[in-house]
Amino acid sequence: SQAFFRPIHNTAPPSQTNRHAKITVVGAGNVGMAIAQTVLTQDLVDEIALVDPMADKLRGEMLDLQHAAAFLPRTTILSSSSDYAVTSGSDLIVVTAGARQNPGESRLNLLQRNVALFRSIIPELAKHSPDAILMVVSNPVDILTYVAWKISGFPPNRVIGSGTNLDTSRFRFLLADHLEVNAQDVQAYVVGEHGDSSVALWSSISVGGVPILSFLERQQIPYEEEMLENIHKTVVEGAYEVINLKGYTSWAIGYSVASLARTLLRDQRRIHPVSVLARGFYGIEGGDVFLSLPAQLGHGGVVGVTNVHLTDEEMQKLRASAETLLELQSQLGI
Ligand code: NAI
Ligand code: 2OP
Repeated sequence: SQAFFRPIHNTAPPSQTNRHAKITVVGAGNVGMAIAQTVLTQDLVDEIALVDPMADKLRGEMLDLQHAAAFLPRTTILSSSSDYAVTSGSDLIVVTAGARQNPGESRLNLLQRNVALFRSIIPELAKHSPDAILMVVSNPVDILTYVAWKISGFPPNRVIGSGTNLDTSRFRFLLADHLEVNAQDVQAYVVGEHGDSSVALWSSISVGGVPILSFLERQQIPYEEEMLENIHKTVVEGAYEVINLKGYTSWAIGYSVASLARTLLRDQRRIHPVSVLARGFYGIEGGDVFLSLPAQLGHGGVVGVTNVHLTDEEMQKLRASAETLLELQSQLGI
């Protein structure tokens, strides 16, 4: 304040032109807080709003983060347990509210409980931030992204599910481990439903620009179909294992969403496998279904879907994944 700083003569008044970026995280549980803290460390926004009906826990989380101010980029952290006005003018809204799986429970089993919650949350969020990008993380993420799209009335480019960005990270980690390389040098995608019916795109894996399957074939290095299947099986079972061991998953989804937030808010135009309105792509017909496809993301949300080459088998599995989701969606009456 003026008491501490003597003004420098003849300086121009501070610029008013820089727009502030704001992110809202709905649900301050394990996942919401992992996302909030990862976003904070990456200096992506000037304001973070947290919403969760558990008022004491929420205030505790907010204060705990604020107490780290001396070590972090300057960011205003706000919270409210009931008033969505705190979320007003968000550029990006990340929804993590809702029930999570008990050990052994499937993501799809959470559907009814979390749809009911979305009916109350989404209209409030859309009202206060009509121009925001909505990102759904709550499970089952693909169907809830469809639900959020329907309820919000937002255009499909501004409704995204965190989808298989996380499964893909698990896949790249396992491949990197197997091949003894850095996961960041492994290009690979898991697409489709986040979770049980996800599809690993073996045909498009490359490491340092070298397509892996054709490289192995050319070198006549035998690889076993079973080994490949086991890696994908480990991806699918990954979350169940973590939930059995520690009760929930949090760190990897925190980093996954922070990386999506960076691409969106900074208009990075990177390609991420995320849940988007997939009708018409890769022969997916039969209804409006959200599932993960490699999509280019930027300031306005989804810029487009990449045309990756899929084998017939991969295409079939992707369509089967779409049908599983459409079947469940048709029972929702939304
Ligand atoms: P949690 O139980 O720790 O947190 C959920 C929070 O939602 C609680 O704090 C609860 O008070 C809050 N909540 C309930 N009603 C709300 C409302 N109306 N408004 C705002 N907040 C509300 O659960 P956790 O572990 O954080 O998981 C959250 C969700 O994220 C689950 O559905 C879980 O399955 C999903 N998840 C999704 C992942 C993905 O890759 N898509 C990864 C990990 C979890
Ligand atoms: C995950 O894959 C449970 O969907 C959550 O970590």
